Amino acid sequence: MYTSKIAGLGRYVPEQVVTNDDLSKLMDTNDAWIQERTGIKERRWVKEGSDDTTAMMGVKAARIAIERASIDKDDIDFIIFATLSPDYYFPGPGVMVQKELDIKTVGALDVRNQCSGFVYALSVADNFIKTGMYKNILVIGSELHSHGLDKTTRGRGVSVIFGDGAGAAVVSRSEDDNGGILSTHLHSQGMHAEELIVKAPGMGTRWVTDIINENDPNDESYFPYMNGQFVFKNAVVRFSEVIMEGLQTNGLSVSDIDMLIPHQANLRISQFIQRKFQLRDNQVFNNIQKYGNTTAASIPIALTEAWEEGRIAKGDTVVLAAFGSGFTWGSVIIKW
Ligand code: UT7
Repeated sequence: MYTSKIAGLGRYVPEQVVTNDDLSKLMDTNDAWIQERTGIKERRWVKEGSDDTTAMMGVKAARIAIERASIDKDDIDFIIFATLSPDYYFPGPGVMVQKELDIKTVGALDVRNQCSGFVYALSVADNFIKTGMYKNILVIGSELHSHGLDKTTRGRGVSVIFGDGAGAAVVSRSEDDNGGILSTHLHSQGMHAEELIVKAPGMGTRWVTDIINENDPNDESYFPYMNGQFVFKNAVVRFSEVIMEGLQTNGLSVSDIDMLIPHQANLRISQFIQRKFQLRDNQVFNNIQKYGNTTAASIPIALTEAWEEGRIAKGDTVVLAAFGSGFTWGSVIIKW
């Protein structure tokens, strides 16, 4: 078995900042409610007319990750792209990244696991590296939510939460037996598939032509539905479980965590985990205040920012954990 490590990280967020006050001009909401319930102060939304798409934001993050990994794009031998908001129904954005970066005919895989997408993608990359199948895998999480949100009062329980952006990592074979990705842990529970869902347009079970023919302005199935409190209650339990599972697998305990990077779903969820594990502020990284919830992009954006701010040092135990629609959840334990 080989060792795998994160060799380079990159992130990209669109330049348009949308504050809570901006949202209160579109719908019946306010800064106090959003901050108190979610911790979010502002998010980035792609500006109308911008060339940014899910794939293209992923490309921008990827270019930085590749440069920081000190490799050439032709050294990449596999691409994995996690998103719930692909540019097209098919093909997925993995091949579009390949086209844009002009990468030779390596495989490109798309992951559809929503907020857990990046953790699932990292797990695939880690195992492909460990078995010796590939040497340098480009892993991207990118989302463009703002085009698909109900920005009226009807959708306020969901639309104030989500933001756009992308993060990327180059996962490489490593010579260092003492570090790298130690283990990954994945779970799902399909019985709750409908608790956080976008049913339409036409994805698999409904014909697009039916939707067009119906042309019903009250049809909310185009927009995300979330049973917020139910998701919240499940999230705090599953986050804790899967972090402990990862630590115990490696003979570690909570006191070994140097940096916990939770999926940025809600600041209250992160604070709950922090309190439960009695972690200090400098042991947990949060940036939901600036970007909202960017689902598959949230962990790679946060990991990149934490690294850029010098908050991760060689030898640190870094824990990534995610929970979201599916339900799906997972963790990654890294010795940096
Ligand atoms: O990333 C994937 C995983 N996602 C999560 O983990 C999200 C988990 N859930 C949550 O973060 C929270 O449930 C939310 C932030 C989505 C909602 O917070 P909440 O404290 O559960 O609020 P609620 O949905 O119970 O709504 C409370 C009240 C309602 O009014 P009434 O019925 O009490 O009069 C809502 O209509 O707040 C109202 N409300 C709003 N008010 C102002 C809902 N959204 C808004 C809003 N602005 N944007």
